[in-house]
Amino acid sequence: MENIRVGVIGFGNMGGAHTAAIANGDIPGLKLAGICDNDAAKRTLAGEWYPGIPTFAEHEELLSSGLVDAVIVATPHCFHASIAAEAMRAGLHVLSEKPADVSVSRAREAITAAHETGKVYAIMFNQRTNPLFRRAKELVESGALGERKRAVWIITNWYRTQAYYDSGSWRATWGGEGGGVLLNQAPHNLDLLQWIFGMPRRIRAFCSVAKYHHIEVEDDATIYAEYENGATATFITTTGEYPGTNRLEISGDLGKLVLEDGKLKWWRLSEHEREFCFSSSIGMYQPEVSYEEILPSEPETAHRGILRNFAEAILYGVPLIAPGEEGIRELTLSNAAYLSSWTDDWAELPLDEARYAKLLQERVDASNQTPLFVSHGSAQEYSERWQVRW
Ligand SMILES: NC(=O)c1ccc[n+]([C@@H]2O[C@H](COP(=O)([O-])OP(=O)(O)OC[C@H]3O[C@@H](n4cnc5c(N)ncnc54)[C@H](O)[C@@H]3O)[C@@H](O)[C@H]2O)c1
Repeated sequence: MENIRVGVIGFGNMGGAHTAAIANGDIPGLKLAGICDNDAAKRTLAGEWYPGIPTFAEHEELLSSGLVDAVIVATPHCFHASIAAEAMRAGLHVLSEKPADVSVSRAREAITAAHETGKVYAIMFNQRTNPLFRRAKELVESGALGERKRAVWIITNWYRTQAYYDSGSWRATWGGEGGGVLLNQAPHNLDLLQWIFGMPRRIRAFCSVAKYHHIEVEDDATIYAEYENGATATFITTTGEYPGTNRLEISGDLGKLVLEDGKLKWWRLSEHEREFCFSSSIGMYQPEVSYEEILPSEPETAHRGILRNFAEAILYGVPLIAPGEEGIRELTLSNAAYLSSWTDDWAELPLDEARYAKLLQERVDASNQTPLFVSHGSAQEYSERWQVRW
């Protein structure tokens, strides 16, 4: 296969930008072959912008058209896993937008289909392509930081206005989006947190509903997580603060990393703090420490990087940067945070998926919002606000 024929499902902000990247020839190996959106106005727009490319009102028509080898799913989250699963069962490879779906139990449908069909199933965690996060992961995993002690991430630069929430009837509703900042903006950071620092064993969280906007879900959240080895993580996010902060600090018993302002700062101890603590005969004394500042080794390839990797995985078997099955981990963190907040108690992992699904459904049923899944957005290029911002 020289070129992979790609269909884009959901021609909105994100799907529109992926379509443009492929149509512009930015992604070797991918060729635009179809566009699906169930909004007639979006199909008209797609026809104007990409004459000659067939459009489809229903994803089933695209999947069975014989015109595509792979699809990109860029609909609202709650359709991601079911469409991805259907596509893989129809013999197509899938790149799904984040999050994998709104709940772990729903996301399992796509993971099962990927295992059963052997199709490539990737997820658009574009921030994994940032060289500073990749370096931080290497340092933590190589043991250079020693035993993990603590991660603290203040990620409050996801500022959104009310107009953003009003731009789509599915946004910020339990039925349409399944959550707020933890389900829409922060999945990138929750994914990076687990990618770099690992998965905790339990979570306590406080999610503030409609603190800064007229919405029915949370726009401010604080998560406290405990790990098997006693390490902890604190994760703070919101769409209601400006100016915001993006600062990740990770400490271990051999030093500390801080990622902020587009730099990775690395403090290295000459010996393990835990040993030093009990071997030093002087009370107010510290281990020797050296300092290094690391700048990005190359630009972040972002969405295009994930698209290129998707093509290379299909064509040459290159490992995925973000395999679909890993999408379940960040969803576990956000679902557990909601569960903890709703029950005012710890959420133990593995997550009680059935209980979570039941409590989420109660919120959907009690909602007075009817998500129509229409939106006004359609983009012809990637927005900077979707990349890592310091
Ligand atoms: N990776 C990133 O950086 C990033 C950035 C923005 C959005 N996203 C993700 O992309 C997804 C879409 O977000 P958006 O901002 O583009 O939303 P959007 O509302 O602008 O676009 C969604 C499109 O899907 C269409 N649609 C809805 N249901 C459909 C269905 N069943 N079949 C076909 N089309 C359908 C809508 O008509 C709309 O055109 C979300 O899951 C979001 O989390 C990812």
